[in-house]
Amino acid sequence: MKFKKKILCIGAGYVGGPSMAMIAFKCPDYRVTVVDTNPERIDAWNSSQLPFYEPGLDNVIKKTRGKNLFFSKDIDNQIKENDIIFVCVNTPTKNYGAGAHMAADLQYWEKTARQILKHSQSSKIVIEKCTLPVKTALAMEKILSSSKGKIKFEVLSNPEFMAEGTAISDLENPDRVLLGSHETKSGLQARAQLIEIYTRWIPSDRIITSNIWSSELSKLVANAFLAQRVSSINSISALCEKTDADITEVAKAVGMDVRIGNKFLNAGIGFGGSCFKKDILNLVYLCSYYGLHEVASYWESVVKINEFQQQRFIAGMLNSMFQTLAGKKICILGFAFKADTSDTRESPAIYIAQKLLAEQAEIVISDPRALKNAAVDLAGIKGEIKYIEDPYLATAGCHAVVVLTDWNLYRSLDFKKIYRSMVKPAFIFYGR
Ligand code: UDX
Ligand code: UDX
Repeated sequence: MKFKKKILCIGAGYVGGPSMAMIAFKCPDYRVTVVDTNPERIDAWNSSQLPFYEPGLDNVIKKTRGKNLFFSKDIDNQIKENDIIFVCVNTPTKNYGAGAHMAADLQYWEKTARQILKHSQSSKIVIEKCTLPVKTALAMEKILSSSKGKIKFEVLSNPEFMAEGTAISDLENPDRVLLGSHETKSGLQARAQLIEIYTRWIPSDRIITSNIWSSELSKLVANAFLAQRVSSINSISALCEKTDADITEVAKAVGMDVRIGNKFLNAGIGFGGSCFKKDILNLVYLCSYYGLHEVASYWESVVKINEFQQQRFIAGMLNSMFQTLAGKKICILGFAFKADTSDTRESPAIYIAQKLLAEQAEIVISDPRALKNAAVDLAGIKGEIKYIEDPYLATAGCHAVVVLTDWNLYRSLDFKKIYRSMVKPAFIFYGR
């Protein structure tokens, strides 16, 4: 079949994989290829065991893979063959040198830009889909225009706002699609090509455009605002616990004000996931870099409250369980950073598990999807850890149960039966 357009995505992760699968699904006349430097990731995408669990993803993959969606290890040739290239490589927090533990580590992203330059034999549109510090596109442009040949690269920003666990419905029905480009003739032409893709299934009033820098910054700010709501409600949960106010009642009353809204007001163990902490730290670093120290410390407090909430949770457990957890068996129900994903990156459960082990508790971890990742996260940590998927077997004989992920499954458990199988006095700590 002759395809109308050829699209490439570099980076077959949680963002690159599902977002390209959706484009392939909605644009059957486009050929979409996803490449990755990690060959095992590509093998997983080509197998029946996708690299991670995401509801509905397998269905979209089934309908597109091998037809107009391809996963390949041949990055160099794919760069040559494709006209539109999305970049979706990871940009973790830098853990060395200047800006360590704050700034984004841009080494993978820069390597990718150089690889695009080296293997391109024709002009291309290059789109940042991964979250990047504002002004990164400028650096990308400098690298891509460094050879001064006839080949031209137009750099655009198109950040992805989907959340894990709801990725497919978010991609199918996004609140908005943001396209940042230069207001030059070639910038506008490139932007029109992206608009052509998204209008296949998204109403045009939800496709918004801006300059590149606004687009880059909007993604960081959207995540910072969401995380800030979680930290705001969590900070109030601490006050509720001192005053007999009930945080769910407060959240309901506050959230019914339409100006405030009722989403992202669930107090709990704090936010996890690969984005929130990384993006806020990135924002903090940017503000400090530009000398805006008050703004930097305002946003940094969102991360501090998140850490405070997790420390408070452990302190609460110790308090209730007679100030000692040594030798006690504690079951963690849920290790994923949120429900409906196998992802455990930055999951509060990692911190809680480590602290429980440091208190010399024995821990049993249960999760319907994330046990493999949990074992990787806790590898090499001293202490007694068991992994048992069945929640009834996992909780039997425990002194306490700690619910850390809001899996639907846990709502319908027979907690009377669980209670009967536990050591008395039995405790339950609900982190959600
Ligand atoms: C990534 C970014 O981390 C995030 O900032 C952005 O908002 C979306 O893209 P995610 O998809 O969750 O998030 O990351 P990850 O699952 O780690 O996927 C990145 C992929 O890029 C990995 O499979 C990695 O192997 C690949 N990669 C990395 C390359 O193909 N080339 C590289 O040079 C580096
Ligand atoms: C987030 C953004 O929502 C998404 O737009 C962006 O593209 C990537 O980052 P994600 O991290 O996948 O998505 O999940 P999200 O639903 O935002 O939850 C993040 C964390 O906040 C989870 O640990 C969740 O449990 C926690 N959370 C969320 C709360 O503790 N309370 C809430 O009310 C909402």
